[in-house]
Amino acid sequence: MTRQLETAASVRRLSPPSNVGSELAADTFAGLTSTPKQLSSKYFYDARGSELFEDITQLPEYYLTRAEAEILTLYADEMMDAIKPEELVELGSGYSVKTRLLLEALNRAGTGTLYIPFDISETAIRDASATLSDHYPWLTIEGLVGDFPADLPRIPHSGRRLVTFLGSTIGNFRSPDRVEFYRSVGAMLEPTDGLLVGVDLVKDINTLLAAYDDSAGVTAEFNRNILHVLNRELGANFPVDEFDYVVRWDAVDECVSMGLRATRDMTVTIAAIGLTIRLAEGEEIHDEVSCKFRRDVVEAEASAAGLAVNGWWTDTEDRFAVALLQPKPAPRPWKLHRPRN
Ligand code: SAH
Ligand code: TRP
Repeated sequence: MTRQLETAASVRRLSPPSNVGSELAADTFAGLTSTPKQLSSKYFYDARGSELFEDITQLPEYYLTRAEAEILTLYADEMMDAIKPEELVELGSGYSVKTRLLLEALNRAGTGTLYIPFDISETAIRDASATLSDHYPWLTIEGLVGDFPADLPRIPHSGRRLVTFLGSTIGNFRSPDRVEFYRSVGAMLEPTDGLLVGVDLVKDINTLLAAYDDSAGVTAEFNRNILHVLNRELGANFPVDEFDYVVRWDAVDECVSMGLRATRDMTVTIAAIGLTIRLAEGEEIHDEVSCKFRRDVVEAEASAAGLAVNGWWTDTEDRFAVALLQPKPAPRPWKLHRPRN
């Protein structure tokens, strides 16, 4: 008798691939015809981009992943105890490496067995789902390929929920977009659910800049990868090697800002959208921001989106924090009465 092997992992796409392609075209057109020119970092993450990001997490200069892993090692049990989740939903899960620390705590807590990784990178979701289901036979995995924040309302809700957004990915948005993001996640939460957000903290500028300008040049390659994506997906002819990678500190918004600088005058055609652009020598295309945080800023932005910070854990060197956000209690009913007319 043959027995079909049971697999506890499934992967589903939330938006059709055609949407993804036309969005890339529209975003690229808008970004390259604006001043200054810009591209959206969500297009970094094709298969190669996701792999390059994993390499970044291993770099000696890139302390973020190690600091956050230390926090999860020390406090994942406390985090589970605060929510007692039946399901863990991870936004921008990538290869779900640090997640293992949370999944093991979930198993110890014994409150739930469902893990829903959500990411724009289909390769990362497939790879992570297969690996985790081999490793944790007790776990049910429902991988979702989607784009945040648009696809967040499409994530099914089956019980008390802990949402996680790790890696300081929230820092890849500027302040107004962060509040909007918190609002979208808030709409996915019942009052006793929670959101864990990993945030990199403001620290000395040299440490920050080095984390995004490693001596092996991996972060530069990761940024340049977006030009490879445009060349392949939109038939563009960017001479990728003729762009320098530039990193600077924006002291006003406390963000590391990243981009690519043309090393000569050039004309580039993006065939699929019928666009030809000129770049002058030294002209930059902005492609990423990584904002750094202070506790009061996290509290203010969460509050503006109707969430309260009910937990705050840091690593032993205070480089990174994981915050627990939950819906603020509803206002007292008498505040809701409005005069009739
Ligand atoms: N959580 C992992 C990976 C962080 S890198 C870690 O902490 O190491 C950011 C992740 O967000 C990548 O896996 C990337 O594919 C995903 N991502 C970026 N933009 C996205 C979007 N618009 N929608 C969904 N996922 C996105
Ligand atoms: N969110 C992480 C950070 O800001 C990872 C990341 C996103 C990143 N985009 C990046 C790292 C670009 C290096 C370069 O650090």
